[in-house]
Amino acid sequence: MVNLGDIFPNFTADTTAGEISFHEWLAESWAILFSHPADFTPVCTTELATVQKLVPEFTKRKVKLIALSCDDTESHHAWKKDVLGYCKDGDTASDLAFPIISDPKRTLAVKFGMVDPDEKDKTGLPLTCRAVFIIGPDKKLKLSLLYPATTGRNFTEILRVVDSLQLTATQKVATPANWEPGKEVMVVPSLSPQEAKEKFPEHRVVEVPSGKPYLRLTPI
Ligand code: BEZ
Repeated sequence: MVNLGDIFPNFTADTTAGEISFHEWLAESWAILFSHPADFTPVCTTELATVQKLVPEFTKRKVKLIALSCDDTESHHAWKKDVLGYCKDGDTASDLAFPIISDPKRTLAVKFGMVDPDEKDKTGLPLTCRAVFIIGPDKKLKLSLLYPATTGRNFTEILRVVDSLQLTATQKVATPANWEPGKEVMVVPSLSPQEAKEKFPEHRVVEVPSGKPYLRLTPI
Protein backbone atom coordinates (compact mmCIF):
# COMPACT_ATOMS: atom_id res chain seq x y z
CA MET A 1 0.00 0.00 0.00
CA VAL A 2 1.42 3.41 -0.98
CA ASN A 3 0.10 6.61 0.57
CA LEU A 4 -0.05 10.03 -1.08
CA GLY A 5 3.34 11.71 -0.63
CA ASP A 6 5.24 8.42 -0.24
CA ILE A 7 8.12 7.66 -2.59
CA PHE A 8 6.63 5.05 -4.89
CA PRO A 9 8.69 1.93 -4.07
CA ASN A 10 11.20 0.65 -6.59
CA PHE A 11 10.65 -2.77 -8.15
CA THR A 12 11.99 -4.82 -11.03
CA ALA A 13 9.61 -6.54 -13.40
CA ASP A 14 9.41 -8.16 -16.78
CA THR A 15 7.56 -6.00 -19.33
CA THR A 16 6.88 -5.95 -23.06
CA ALA A 17 9.94 -3.66 -23.30
CA GLY A 18 12.21 -6.07 -21.40
CA GLU A 19 13.07 -6.11 -17.71
CA ILE A 20 12.78 -2.72 -16.04
CA SER A 21 13.87 -1.25 -12.75
CA PHE A 22 10.98 1.09 -11.99
CA HIS A 23 12.98 4.01 -10.55
CA GLU A 24 15.43 3.88 -13.44
CA TRP A 25 12.53 3.82 -15.90
CA LEU A 26 10.88 6.79 -14.10
CA ALA A 27 14.09 8.87 -14.20
CA GLU A 28 12.83 12.36 -13.26
CA SER A 29 9.60 12.32 -15.16
CA TRP A 30 5.92 12.46 -14.32
CA ALA A 31 4.54 8.96 -14.80
CA ILE A 32 1.30 7.01 -14.72
CA LEU A 33 1.17 3.36 -13.75
CA PHE A 34 -2.24 1.88 -14.55
CA SER A 35 -3.32 -1.70 -13.96
CA HIS A 36 -5.70 -4.02 -15.78
CA PRO A 37 -7.46 -7.19 -14.62
CA ALA A 38 -6.29 -9.47 -17.44
CA ASP A 39 -5.22 -9.74 -21.09
CA PHE A 40 -7.81 -10.53 -23.76
CA THR A 41 -10.67 -8.98 -21.81
CA PRO A 42 -13.04 -6.51 -23.47
CA VAL A 43 -12.95 -3.46 -21.16
CA CYS A 44 -9.15 -3.64 -20.81
CA THR A 45 -8.77 -3.73 -24.59
CA THR A 46 -10.84 -0.54 -24.98
CA GLU A 47 -8.81 1.12 -22.21
CA LEU A 48 -5.40 0.33 -23.69
CA ALA A 49 -6.59 1.48 -27.12
CA THR A 50 -7.88 4.72 -25.58
CA VAL A 51 -4.56 5.38 -23.84
CA GLN A 52 -2.65 4.63 -27.07
CA LYS A 53 -4.73 7.27 -28.88
CA LEU A 54 -4.05 9.77 -26.08
CA VAL A 55 -0.27 9.20 -26.09
CA PRO A 56 0.40 12.55 -27.90
CA GLU A 57 -1.49 14.36 -25.10
CA PHE A 58 0.50 12.61 -22.36
CA THR A 59 3.75 13.27 -24.25
CA LYS A 60 2.87 16.98 -24.48
CA ARG A 61 2.67 16.97 -20.67
CA LYS A 62 5.94 14.98 -20.38
CA VAL A 63 4.13 12.06 -18.70
CA LYS A 64 5.49 8.53 -19.16
CA LEU A 65 2.97 5.68 -19.24
CA ILE A 66 3.26 2.09 -18.09
CA ALA A 67 0.45 -0.48 -17.88
CA LEU A 68 0.27 -3.64 -15.76
CA SER A 69 -1.80 -6.73 -16.34
CA CYS A 70 -1.42 -9.92 -14.34
CA ASP A 71 -0.72 -12.20 -17.30
CA ASP A 72 2.78 -12.96 -18.62
CA THR A 73 4.81 -11.11 -21.25
CA GLU A 74 4.15 -13.65 -24.01
CA SER A 75 0.43 -13.14 -23.49
CA HIS A 76 0.87 -9.32 -23.44
CA HIS A 77 2.66 -9.40 -26.81
CA ALA A 78 -0.15 -11.46 -28.34
CA TRP A 79 -2.85 -9.22 -26.78
CA LYS A 80 -1.19 -6.02 -28.03
CA LYS A 81 -2.15 -6.99 -31.61
CA ASP A 82 -5.84 -6.94 -30.64
CA VAL A 83 -5.42 -3.57 -28.93
CA LEU A 84 -3.71 -2.07 -31.98
CA GLY A 85 -6.37 -3.58 -34.23
CA TYR A 86 -9.11 -2.11 -32.05
CA CYS A 87 -7.68 1.43 -32.22
CA LYS A 88 -6.80 1.41 -35.93
CA ASP A 89 -9.29 4.19 -36.77
CA GLY A 90 -7.41 6.82 -34.78
CA ASP A 91 -3.89 5.38 -34.54
CA THR A 92 -1.77 3.63 -37.14
CA ALA A 93 1.18 2.77 -34.87
CA SER A 94 2.70 -0.68 -35.33
CA ASP A 95 3.34 -1.11 -31.60
CA LEU A 96 1.97 0.26 -28.33
CA ALA A 97 3.87 3.38 -27.26
CA PHE A 98 4.17 2.21 -23.65
CA PRO A 99 5.25 -1.04 -21.92
CA ILE A 100 2.97 -3.50 -20.15
CA ILE A 101 4.28 -4.99 -16.90
CA SER A 102 3.72 -8.72 -16.28
CA ASP A 103 2.59 -9.81 -12.84
CA PRO A 104 1.49 -13.45 -13.17
CA LYS A 105 2.06 -14.19 -9.47
CA ARG A 106 0.29 -10.94 -8.37
CA THR A 107 3.43 -9.88 -6.50
CA LEU A 108 3.04 -6.22 -7.47
CA ALA A 109 -0.75 -6.33 -7.34
CA VAL A 110 -0.61 -7.42 -3.67
CA LYS A 111 2.27 -5.08 -2.78
CA PHE A 112 0.50 -2.01 -4.14
CA GLY A 113 -3.10 -2.90 -3.15
CA MET A 114 -4.27 -3.55 -6.71
CA VAL A 115 -6.21 -6.78 -6.17
CA ASP A 116 -9.90 -7.08 -7.10
CA PRO A 117 -11.19 -9.78 -4.70
CA ASP A 118 -14.40 -10.22 -6.71
CA GLU A 119 -12.73 -11.22 -9.97
CA LYS A 120 -10.78 -14.47 -10.37
CA ASP A 121 -8.93 -16.12 -13.26
CA LYS A 122 -9.58 -19.72 -14.39
CA THR A 123 -7.20 -21.06 -11.72
CA GLY A 124 -8.90 -19.12 -8.92
CA LEU A 125 -6.23 -16.41 -8.56
CA PRO A 126 -7.64 -12.90 -8.07
CA LEU A 127 -7.30 -10.43 -10.94
CA THR A 128 -5.86 -6.95 -10.68
CA CYS A 129 -8.33 -4.09 -10.32
CA ARG A 130 -8.11 -0.90 -12.38
CA ALA A 131 -5.66 1.21 -10.41
CA VAL A 132 -4.14 4.53 -11.50
CA PHE A 133 -1.04 5.86 -9.77
CA ILE A 134 0.28 9.26 -10.83
CA ILE A 135 3.89 9.75 -9.75
CA GLY A 136 5.73 13.08 -9.74
CA PRO A 137 9.30 13.82 -10.89
CA ASP A 138 10.31 13.47 -7.21
CA LYS A 139 9.06 9.83 -7.39
CA LYS A 140 6.32 10.61 -4.85
CA LEU A 141 2.74 9.39 -5.27
CA LYS A 142 0.58 12.38 -6.26
CA LEU A 143 -2.74 10.61 -6.90
CA SER A 144 -4.26 7.15 -6.73
CA LEU A 145 -7.55 5.82 -8.04
CA LEU A 146 -8.98 2.33 -7.65
CA TYR A 147 -11.78 1.13 -9.92
CA PRO A 148 -13.28 -2.36 -9.87
CA ALA A 149 -12.66 -4.60 -12.88
CA THR A 150 -16.17 -4.01 -14.16
CA THR A 151 -15.84 -0.20 -14.57
CA GLY A 152 -13.64 1.19 -17.35
CA ARG A 153 -11.81 4.44 -16.64
CA ASN A 154 -12.18 7.85 -18.28
CA PHE A 155 -8.67 8.71 -19.48
CA THR A 156 -9.71 12.22 -20.51
CA GLU A 157 -10.33 12.75 -16.79
CA ILE A 158 -6.84 11.39 -16.06
CA LEU A 159 -5.40 14.01 -18.44
CA ARG A 160 -7.44 16.72 -16.69
CA VAL A 161 -6.06 15.53 -13.36
CA VAL A 162 -2.49 15.68 -14.70
CA ASP A 163 -3.15 19.29 -15.77
CA SER A 164 -4.34 20.11 -12.25
CA LEU A 165 -1.42 18.30 -10.56
CA GLN A 166 1.17 19.99 -12.76
CA LEU A 167 -0.38 23.43 -12.23
CA THR A 168 -0.76 23.11 -8.47
CA ALA A 169 2.79 21.72 -8.13
CA THR A 170 4.21 25.14 -8.97
CA GLN A 171 1.52 27.69 -8.04
CA LYS A 172 -0.34 28.44 -4.82
CA VAL A 173 -3.68 27.48 -6.35
CA ALA A 174 -6.18 24.62 -6.26
CA THR A 175 -8.56 23.59 -9.02
CA PRO A 176 -12.32 23.63 -8.28
CA ALA A 177 -14.92 21.02 -9.18
CA ASN A 178 -15.04 20.19 -12.89
CA TRP A 179 -12.18 22.59 -13.59
CA GLU A 180 -10.63 22.52 -17.03
CA PRO A 181 -7.42 24.22 -18.24
CA GLY A 182 -8.04 27.89 -19.01
CA LYS A 183 -10.75 28.26 -16.37
CA GLU A 184 -10.41 30.18 -13.11
CA VAL A 185 -8.71 28.50 -10.15
CA MET A 186 -8.88 28.94 -6.38
CA VAL A 187 -6.24 30.77 -4.38
CA VAL A 188 -5.15 28.28 -1.67
CA PRO A 189 -6.50 28.97 1.85
CA SER A 190 -2.96 29.17 3.31
CA LEU A 191 -2.27 32.50 1.54
CA SER A 192 -3.13 35.58 3.64
CA PRO A 193 -5.28 38.32 2.05
CA GLN A 194 -2.11 40.40 1.54
CA GLU A 195 -0.20 37.52 -0.07
CA ALA A 196 -3.20 36.72 -2.26
CA LYS A 197 -3.30 40.37 -3.44
CA GLU A 198 0.43 40.30 -4.27
CA LYS A 199 0.51 36.93 -6.02
CA PHE A 200 -2.87 37.09 -7.72
CA PRO A 201 -3.78 40.77 -8.22
CA GLU A 202 -6.74 39.82 -10.43
CA HIS A 203 -8.37 37.51 -7.90
CA ARG A 204 -11.91 38.12 -6.64
CA VAL A 205 -13.62 37.00 -3.46
CA VAL A 206 -16.96 35.24 -3.96
CA GLU A 207 -19.50 36.21 -1.31
CA VAL A 208 -20.96 33.35 0.73
CA PRO A 209 -23.66 33.40 3.48
CA SER A 210 -21.07 32.97 6.26
CA GLY A 211 -19.37 36.19 5.16
CA LYS A 212 -16.00 34.42 5.30
CA PRO A 213 -13.66 35.49 2.46
CA TYR A 214 -12.25 32.04 1.65
CA LEU A 215 -13.65 31.48 -1.83
CA ARG A 216 -11.06 33.34 -3.89
CA LEU A 217 -11.09 32.82 -7.65
CA THR A 218 -8.36 33.96 -9.99
CA PRO A 219 -7.51 33.63 -13.66
CA ILE A 220 -4.17 31.97 -14.24
C1 BEZ B 1 -12.83 -6.59 -18.88
O1 BEZ B 1 -11.74 -6.06 -19.07
O2 BEZ B 1 -13.71 -6.56 -19.74
C2 BEZ B 1 -13.12 -7.28 -17.57
C3 BEZ B 1 -12.12 -7.93 -16.90
C4 BEZ B 1 -12.42 -8.59 -15.71
C5 BEZ B 1 -13.71 -8.55 -15.21
C6 BEZ B 1 -14.69 -7.87 -15.90
C7 BEZ B 1 -14.40 -7.22 -17.08
